[in-house]
Amino acid sequence: PTEELNKRATHARAVLGNRLFILGHHYQKDEVIQYADVTGDSLQLSQIAGQQTADYILFCGVHFMAETADILTTPQQAVILPDMRAGCSMADMANIDQTERSWSELQQLFGDTIVPLTYVNSTAAIKAFVGRNGGATVTSSNATEMVKWALGKKQRMLFLPDQHLGRNTVAELGIPLENMAIWNPIKQQLERQCEIDDVQVILWKGHCSVHMNFLPKHVETLRTKEPDRNILVHPECTYEVVSAADYAGSTKYIIDMIEASEPGSKWAIGTEMNLVNRLIADFPDRDIVSLNPFMCPCLTMNRIDLPHLTWALEELVEGRVINRIVVDAKTANEAKLALKQMM
Ligand code: 13P
Ligand code: SF4
Repeated sequence: PTEELNKRATHARAVLGNRLFILGHHYQKDEVIQYADVTGDSLQLSQIAGQQTADYILFCGVHFMAETADILTTPQQAVILPDMRAGCSMADMANIDQTERSWSELQQLFGDTIVPLTYVNSTAAIKAFVGRNGGATVTSSNATEMVKWALGKKQRMLFLPDQHLGRNTVAELGIPLENMAIWNPIKQQLERQCEIDDVQVILWKGHCSVHMNFLPKHVETLRTKEPDRNILVHPECTYEVVSAADYAGSTKYIIDMIEASEPGSKWAIGTEMNLVNRLIADFPDRDIVSLNPFMCPCLTMNRIDLPHLTWALEELVEGRVINRIVVDAKTANEAKLALKQMM
């Protein structure tokens, strides 16, 4: 029963004291978030992870986030993911062998005119690939600055693995859609509308299966039924949805917008369900709904639940470190180059 698990988790948490620090991503369930020492988006959590001195960093988020935490903490600190099945389908859309093959194809096409950027929602191996090729990581909070940096450095940019964050960011900077090509990693092919010399941005054909569930028809229906409702979406949504929305920005931006909004204001939010539900509960004087009436959970984020959290905590009390995430030293050093460039 939940009550029993909460008692056990609270007890174990107290026994571990300051030997343990718990990080919680905003998309986590309430039953987990209540134990987080700090909550944040991908950027905040990676920065905070690097500042901790606790022996154990328990990451309530997904695998790529725990890898980043391991890269930014010392080898003596153990980063733990309470359920190893908490992966990310977007990160899995760029595997390292495919990426290396794609990179040599792109070098054949464009020579030394491309710099790679990867969304932090990618594996440590992809971050390392980007680091050793002179690129950087980006998050949804700093994508604009990082894209400007990349295009100031080289004539072209390869953006991994989320085509939507890439397209939305680049379009906002005024680069026409025609000058963006899509790299299909399965066919190892460039899908383009312009002459090869005019390709400025190469978008990896990846996406977030959660944010893809917000559709232009949801925006259209709301516009007709409730023209006074503000539409606020995450830039992992498609270009069509982002351009039709009133506001688009990172998880932190979404939270800040709601915090700063007037009581009584009306919002439809296009992002992960746990966060939307928490905003609904935390701001009862705002009228908040999900842009998709059927809501959109991230199933892998939801793998982290109270039973897994309790298990991880109780094992630590017994001196057993389960589900430790370890990135090998070479990968970590190269990935750190990409992360440091961003930070
Ligand atoms: P941010 O936390 O950077 O907004 O990323 C959203 C996301 O999809 C996390 O998995
Ligand atoms: Fe991955 Fe999307 Fe889930 Fe974030 S919300 S962990 S990008 S699948």
